[in-house]
Amino acid sequence: MTDAIIQVRNLTVRFGERTVFENISFDVPRGKIFVILGGSGCGKSTLLRTLTGLVSPICGSIQYDGIEFLGSTGLERQSILQKFGILFQSGGLLNSMTLAENIALPLQEATLLPDERIMEIVRMKLASVGLQGYETFLPGEISGGMKKRAGIARAMALDPAILFFDEPSAGLDPISSAALDKLIRKLNAALGTTMVVVTHELHSIEDIADEVIMLDKSARGIIAQGSLSDVKAITDDRRVYNFFHRVVES
Ligand SMILES: Nc1ncnc2c1ncn2[C@@H]1O[C@H](COP(=O)(O)OP(=O)(O)OP(=O)(O)O)[C@@H](O)[C@H]1O
Ligand SMILES: [Mg+2]
Repeated sequence: MTDAIIQVRNLTVRFGERTVFENISFDVPRGKIFVILGGSGCGKSTLLRTLTGLVSPICGSIQYDGIEFLGSTGLERQSILQKFGILFQSGGLLNSMTLAENIALPLQEATLLPDERIMEIVRMKLASVGLQGYETFLPGEISGGMKKRAGIARAMALDPAILFFDEPSAGLDPISSAALDKLIRKLNAALGTTMVVVTHELHSIEDIADEVIMLDKSARGIIAQGSLSDVKAITDDRRVYNFFHRVVES
């Protein structure tokens, strides 16, 4: 049996009359890069937002290390929320603050560490994403790829066990996008952080995915799951095959 850091069971999300997915179940294995894929509008972002508590499902269960997240309150909920960091699509940085101030923010809010120690951690986090020396830069003064990396440094400020990414390479040129994938791999290997990544970019999936689930809009759920190689080898489901082989049916 694999060691699951997140266990999702029979999860259903609806917006009004529209069911996005119904009764989906899967495990996110600890320390792996887990990719949620599928075409536009199939519910990838909604699933990520549900896993991180931003969307409330109709029913189901989401356990982090065996502790139920849905319906949790107070300290219990806080202890789960502290397990994860989120990289928002825009990088989630405050434009009026330097990179150092942005990364210091979660540390100032969640810890009682002295300023010097916080600055040490900030420098370390920036270095781990290849941004040493950029402490005093404003987000507006760096490239899109660097903003994403600074966003990762911020998401990792409190050493989360799990990092969530929604379309990390959206809006980046192919080279910056490949560099970001490489960084995600490197951080996963160096720190053992579990990564949950939403993407529909094939090259990205090839570069980073250990395990995948594929969502489908009309199926309102998961149509394939397993290791990347297992899912890529599927030939008897046209939707899965077409996705990996870029087949467009007219
Ligand atoms: N807050 C919301 N209220 C109502 N409907 C929503 C809301 N969020 C998402 N939806 C709907 O849920 C469905 C899934 O949307 P979602 O953004 O999760 O898809 P996605 O797979 O991330 O798509 P994309 O690849 O385009 O980002 C869509 O039909 C969308 O319109
Ligand atoms: Mg989305």
